[in-house]
This record gives sequence, C-alpha cells and structure tokens, in this order.
Amino acid sequence: MEPLLWWLLATLLYLTPSTTAHPSVSSNPQSPLPSLSWSLVLTNSTQQLRGLAPLSDKVAWVSGPNATVLRTIDAGRTWADVSPALAAWENRADYQFRDVHAWSAKAAVVLSIGEGNASRIYRTQDGGKTWERTFVNDEPTAFFDCLAFEEGGYGRHGLALSDPVNGRFRLIESWDWGKSWKLVDPEGMPPALEGEFAFAASGSCIEAKAGRWYIGSGGVDPGRIFRSHDSGKNWQVANSSIAGGAAAGVFSVRFRDAKTGVAIGGDYEKPTGNTKNAAWSRDGGASWHVAERLPGGYRSGVSWVAGRRDVAVAVGTSGSDITVDGGKRWYGIDNGSFDAVECVGWYGYSMGARGCWASGAKGKVAWLDLGRL
Ligand SMILES: *[C@@H]1O[C@H](CO)[C@@H](O)[C@H](O)[C@H]1NC(C)=O
Ligand SMILES: *[C@@H]1O[C@H](CO)[C@@H](O)[C@H](O)[C@H]1NC(C)=O
Ligand SMILES: *[C@@H]1O[C@H](CO)[C@@H](O)[C@H](O)[C@H]1NC(C)=O
Ligand SMILES: *[C@@H]1O[C@H](CO)[C@@H](O)[C@H](O)[C@H]1NC(C)=O
Ligand SMILES: *[C@@H]1O[C@H](CO)[C@@H](O)[C@H](O)[C@H]1NC(C)=O
Repeated sequence: MEPLLWWLLATLLYLTPSTTAHPSVSSNPQSPLPSLSWSLVLTNSTQQLRGLAPLSDKVAWVSGPNATVLRTIDAGRTWADVSPALAAWENRADYQFRDVHAWSAKAAVVLSIGEGNASRIYRTQDGGKTWERTFVNDEPTAFFDCLAFEEGGYGRHGLALSDPVNGRFRLIESWDWGKSWKLVDPEGMPPALEGEFAFAASGSCIEAKAGRWYIGSGGVDPGRIFRSHDSGKNWQVANSSIAGGAAAGVFSVRFRDAKTGVAIGGDYEKPTGNTKNAAWSRDGGASWHVAERLPGGYRSGVSWVAGRRDVAVAVGTSGSDITVDGGKRWYGIDNGSFDAVECVGWYGYSMGARGCWASGAKGKVAWLDLGRL
C-alpha cells in the first residue's frame, strides 16, 4: 500500500470509535486492515524456539531448549544448526536458550535460563562455529530470564535480567558486546513485591534503549513495569494495568521512542483469555492504559515495526495481532501459536523487506510480510 493510503487508513482507524464497549469484552478479531498472513518457514527443528533475533528479512537467529541455536542467512530457506558444542559431561537438556541477541550473521549471544548455574551466557563471533561461555551465575537464588542490548554505542552495551535476589530484581550488564558481565548496583531498584518475577517466555521481559531500561513483571496483580531513564541509577515502578497472577502479568514491554511504549501479557495458563492483556504508555512508562481493543488472548511477545510509526505486532500461543495506533487497538492476524516476535524494517538494521519474524513450539518459524503496509 502507498504511504499516503496507509496514513489515511491509520487516521481513519484512529478516529473511528472502538466497537468494544469494555476492555474485558472479547474483541472481534475481524481486522479492517489488509489481510495479513504468516508464511511458515521450515527449520527441521522440533524444539520450542523462544529466542529470536533477526537482523533483516534474510538473516535470523533462533534458540531453544536442548542447547539449540539455529541461524539462517537466506530468508529461512536453510537453517544451520549452530548450537554450542558442550563438554562430554554436560547434558544438552540442561540448557534452555530462551533468548538470543545478534549483531550480525557472525556475532551473537545466547542466554540459558534456570536456577543457579543453569543461568549462563554464551557468545560467538564466527557464526556459531565456536562459542565462548562468558557468564555463569553463581548466586543460587538468581534465575535469569531475558537479555537486551542497546542499539547505540555500536551495540556494545547489554543487560540481562534475573528474578529478584534479596527482594530486588537483579541485573548484570556488559559494555563489550557480551564478552564480560558485572552486577548492576541494585541500590536504586525499588523492592520487588512478594511473589513478583519476570517471564522467561520470549526474550523480551527487558527493554534497553539509549539509557532507558524497562522491566515487565508478573506473579503479582497487576503486573508492574519498572523503568530507569538514567542507565539504571534511579528506578521507578508503575502499575502496568495488565492483570497479573501466578502465571500472569507483563510478558513483554517495548518502547518505540522515549515516550511511546506498549506492553502485553496475560495468563499463559489461559491462552485465549483476554482480560487486560495489553496496555500502552505515552509518557515514557510513568502511566499505562489498558488497550481499548485487546489482543485475542495471552500474548508473550510484542515488537514495533521499524519505520512504521504506531505499528506493532504481538504473538502468543493462541494467536497474533497487529496495532496501527500504538497499542490502543489490536486486530487479530492469525490463531496459530508463537512465543516470540521481532520485526525488521527499512529504518532498522536492514534495507531489506519490512516485516516480522515469529518463532515458537515444534520448531515453528514464520515471516509476516509488511511491505504492503
Ligand atoms: C529436548 O529435546 C527432546 C527431543 O526432541 C524433547 O523431547 C524435549 O522436550 C526437549 N526438552 C525441552 C526442555 O523442551
Ligand atoms: C532439513 O534437513 C535436510 C537433511 O539434513 C536438509 O537437506 C534440508 O536443507 C534441511 N532444511 C532446512 C530448511 O534447513
Ligand atoms: C553447576 O552446579 C551443579 C550442582 O548444583 C554442579 O554439579 C555442576 O558442576 C555445576 N556446573 C558448573 C559448570 O559449574
Ligand atoms: C492499577 O491501575 C488500574 C487501572 O488501570 C486500577 O484499576 C488498579 O486499581 C490499579 N492497581 C493498583 C494496585 O494501583
Ligand atoms: C480465530 O478464531 C476465531 C474463532 O475460533 C475466528 O472467529 C477468527 O476468525 C479467527 N481469526 C483469524 C484471524 O483467523
């Protein structure tokens, strides 16, 4: 679609009153947008690929349990198994690579989640031929969930998030592309509530952008969103307006710029439940508002579409949705299951096609072409 037409459509959508009277009323998944559909890409994997890091429409990394890392450089036509070689005494089943971040087709880090020394980070510089272990957690009560690297500063600065230790969320950071890691002083971090944690579901429970860091939590009701606008020195925490509980809360929080954020979640034990499962912020995360028209169910990942103001895509085990007004209204795309979504675009890392990658259970990977939007 031509940009002008797109703009007209987005404006119309924005001005049209929502047909959903109350946020908890199940939203009609009928979308007024041009019909969109995921194109499945075969990976040959049977693993649940929750880690996803595309660089363009051509190059993408995915990761999962059993120490699985795959990479494509030809838009998913072929995937190389670039999983780290483990020592003979190590068990692949102990490594759940829930998150991956990539700088290129050569350089990437993967995060293994879990209690104690199961939380680890590995790094490659040669496209996965060799991996170096650059972090092993030695705090028995820590449990790392996700990691994120900032785009500026040549992408050298990154953070990994653990569930609370001694009553505060724990962060480690790297200033050298994941080669070395050190503990972030938790001094400025507000105390976690009893039972509060982050979800290791899609590698997007933490967001880091130009010194602005965000953490989404669950286990408590409502889920909360922590934010620091000075690289972790001072923190505040806000009511996300997303319903929380033992298996519910904020699964993914993403900011398009300093002000504009979206957060999604729900209850992973109720895949089609859609009570207060998405919220938006326009003030840098100080306040959050429940979406007027909610995604069709529990959603684990959300990503802004680079170069398309106010467009974001969310995925979960019961389907995927798109918003064109920055998270106020969501429209169903598909009812299939995914865990993670990451979009790429002309203003992102690549000059290739614009669209989103999604990944999930049983080796499922797909591409959503948004070139027409
Ligand atoms: C590891 O792989 C095996 C064989 O594909 C599978 O049955 C098992 O569920 C995987 N482990 C996890 C934690 O998914
Ligand atoms: C799947 O595996 C077969 C046999 O190893 C290989 O020929 C094929 O290219 C693989 N497909 C993908 C998408 O990687
Ligand atoms: C991880 O901890 C287990 C026991 O908790 C221990 O047996 C194992 O050797 C440790 N592995 C490493 C690499 O430190
Ligand atoms: C969180 O915000 C919602 C409105 O979005 C409100 O109904 C709820 O009472 C708030 N909860 C807390 C603990 O402040
Ligand atoms: C998803 O499923 C619902 C009901 O099962 C159906 O009404 C809807 O059209 C489906 N949505 C899409 C986008 O396929």
